[in-house]
Amino acid sequence: MPKDAAPPPLIRVENVSKSFGTFQAVKNVSLTIDKGEIFALLGGSGCGKTTLLRMLAGFEETTGGKIFIDGQDMTGVPPWERPVHMMFQSYALFPHMTVEKNVGYGLKHEPMTAAQRQDRVREMLDLVQLTPFATRKPHQISGGQRQRVALARALARQPKLLLLDEPLAALDKKLREHTQFELMSIQERTGVTFIVVTHDQEEAMTLADRIAVMDRGEVKQIGPPGDVYEFPNSRFVAGFIGSITALEAVVEAIDGVRTRLAVPALGGPVQARSVAGLSVGQTVTVAIRPEKLAISRAPQTGDNVFEGEVKDLAYFGKDSLYRITMPSGALISVHAVNARRSAEGERVVDWYDKVWLSFDPTSAIILTA
Ligand SMILES: Nc1ncnc2c1ncn2[C@@H]1O[C@H](COP(=O)(O)OP(=O)(O)OP(=O)(O)O)[C@@H](O)[C@H]1O
Ligand SMILES: [Mg+2]
Repeated sequence: MPKDAAPPPLIRVENVSKSFGTFQAVKNVSLTIDKGEIFALLGGSGCGKTTLLRMLAGFEETTGGKIFIDGQDMTGVPPWERPVHMMFQSYALFPHMTVEKNVGYGLKHEPMTAAQRQDRVREMLDLVQLTPFATRKPHQISGGQRQRVALARALARQPKLLLLDEPLAALDKKLREHTQFELMSIQERTGVTFIVVTHDQEEAMTLADRIAVMDRGEVKQIGPPGDVYEFPNSRFVAGFIGSITALEAVVEAIDGVRTRLAVPALGGPVQARSVAGLSVGQTVTVAIRPEKLAISRAPQTGDNVFEGEVKDLAYFGKDSLYRITMPSGALISVHAVNARRSAEGERVVDWYDKVWLSFDPTSAIILTA
């Protein structure tokens, strides 16, 4: 291997498929995951996330393709011989065992002395900050603490790869956000590679170095959270990650970095960032995120300025969501941060106001798939 070559990926999934009878739950998935990454599998219910994890862990055989872990072909390798630990969607703790017994359970068959085992359990409890709770039973600790016990149990065997299936689903919103940061810091300290399954896009964006967005067994896009959000490759991904207004458009002119589109819903042309492979006359979708639109009661002029009327508004304190009716009848969503307090004489945007919407050409996403 040349000296400056990147290390080989820890996981290589090559054209992996899984059928149950005639139903194809996972379709021709290929991806690589590097050592030390937090990788999220994101997608709606039934899209094949758990099935893909189960194939990585060895609980299901693939019906097509191959999985390599650390360069080794996993075909026919049973779960217990893989350097993998899977934390299931409903992580079951043993109710009659104390926290420390739960954490030590997976070490029972490891070739280690009782003292070594005890040390490892202590180290794990320390890692997840549960040392003071070592002798309690699961029903005597909180939901978030139980989640951390399950995590400590999973990490105790020092797997190279930890598969977490909806690890935070049982927690309420506040605890979930807190635990997300804990997971990230535990990952940093242990260097273990994490694959986290979630149907929550915000969770995936917060946790992961990279995200794979899945739909009906297929991986639609893989990339860092910012790329997947700012440069979705399809209507599905654009709509799944964050909210977006998608409008039908026709390519009118292509001029280097800019493309002019006719957008009937807006009643005028839109200047957008060009993408490769467009041709004049082609029908595409132009998509705009609500937070990329500026809203103003004062008349505006220039490119990408459109007049409309406020149909709905929701005031959340720190921000507001508007729905604007365009003359075509189309509804456009605008998300605006309430940065200033509304001073006297400077009325804020209100119901039925006439308003001007504007956006930068780089904020208009052209989608062809
Ligand atoms: N053993 C099985 N036999 C038949 N069909 C199955 C089996 N396991 C899963 N499936 C089907 O495969 C599809 C994918 O299931 P999977 O459990 O991977 O979804 P998921 O993405 O994890 O969903 P969720 O977010 O609801 O957990 C579903 O349509 C499911 O019904
Ligand atoms: Mg699942």
